Amino acid sequence: MPLVTTTEMFKKAYEGNYAVGAFNVNNMEIIQGITEAAKELNSPLVLQVSAGARRYAKHTYLVKLVEAAVEDTGLPIALHLDHGDSFELCKSCIDGGFTSVMIDGSHLSFEENIKLTKQVVDYAHDHGVVVEGELGRLAGVEDDIKVSEEESSYTRPEEVEEFVSKTGVDSLAIAIGTSHGAFKFKPGQKPNLRFDILERIGELLPGFPIVLHGASSVVPEFVDMINEYGGNIPGAIGIPEDMLREAAKMAVCKINIDSDLRLAMTASVRKYLFENPGHFDPRQYLAPAREAIKSMVAHKIKNVLGSNDKL
Ligand code: G3H
Ligand code: 13P
Ligand code: ZN
Repeated sequence: MPLVTTTEMFKKAYEGNYAVGAFNVNNMEIIQGITEAAKELNSPLVLQVSAGARRYAKHTYLVKLVEAAVEDTGLPIALHLDHGDSFELCKSCIDGGFTSVMIDGSHLSFEENIKLTKQVVDYAHDHGVVVEGELGRLAGVEDDIKVSEEESSYTRPEEVEEFVSKTGVDSLAIAIGTSHGAFKFKPGQKPNLRFDILERIGELLPGFPIVLHGASSVVPEFVDMINEYGGNIPGAIGIPEDMLREAAKMAVCKINIDSDLRLAMTASVRKYLFENPGHFDPRQYLAPAREAIKSMVAHKIKNVLGSNDKL
């Protein structure tokens, strides 16, 4: 089976009240860990590549590794550009074999966001590729994305119909209180998502797939493990898993997870090297790191996404 677009998988997810996991990938072990978990659980997948990941591993390596995973597992997998910030970057991924791109114009004015998104949609659709747009701004810090809490803003439901009809996007990322990275809430702050906004958008765009970014739960077990084995990330807090499960039953068809994979992998490597100070063969610590990714993804598929046995 070749790489697929998200059209069919989102339609099934919407109708089946679950969501497809979109996991960020940077290297072979991450791709293998994710796809092995999905294979065992018969789950569809989106593997996504950020601009930073593309700089780190190079476009060709990531495309070939994801193609190898498709050949190895036979799973329906969409290869997606995460947070594309220009027409040129999206075009380069479309021309280079991706089946889905995100154009993130959420920092632009409403009109400019529509203009840029439509330009990407026109090119993508001519090439059989689907497009995710974004309205509203998530807070948080990752390689290429730095948005302070003051700069962030919830999606305005009154804008979504016009945005979707004028751009022709295939899915829409919205801001309802999730944020990027491992520090989503302040210690003592009660995690809260604006389900009222999600519900209203679901009513305004019936059947239309919604995307949730910044959806790591920052699983405490791995934060504790990192802190125990020489790391120092106090106060890392994520989105409670029951809230994400709730969103997956609503209009949310794609849930983006990166930080939880980073934490699982790093915790595993730290623990391994601490316990085996004499080891220096990368395979010795990358094999358990790959296993840690696999169990994290299996946990997400079963407990957050509900995408197991949905092929
Ligand atoms: O939302 C962004 C993703 O987690 C990718 O992060 O730009 O550090 O690769 P990155
Ligand atoms: P997290 O940082 O919560 O994993 O979010 C990842 C994301 O939204 C990628 O686009
Ligand atoms: Zn994101």
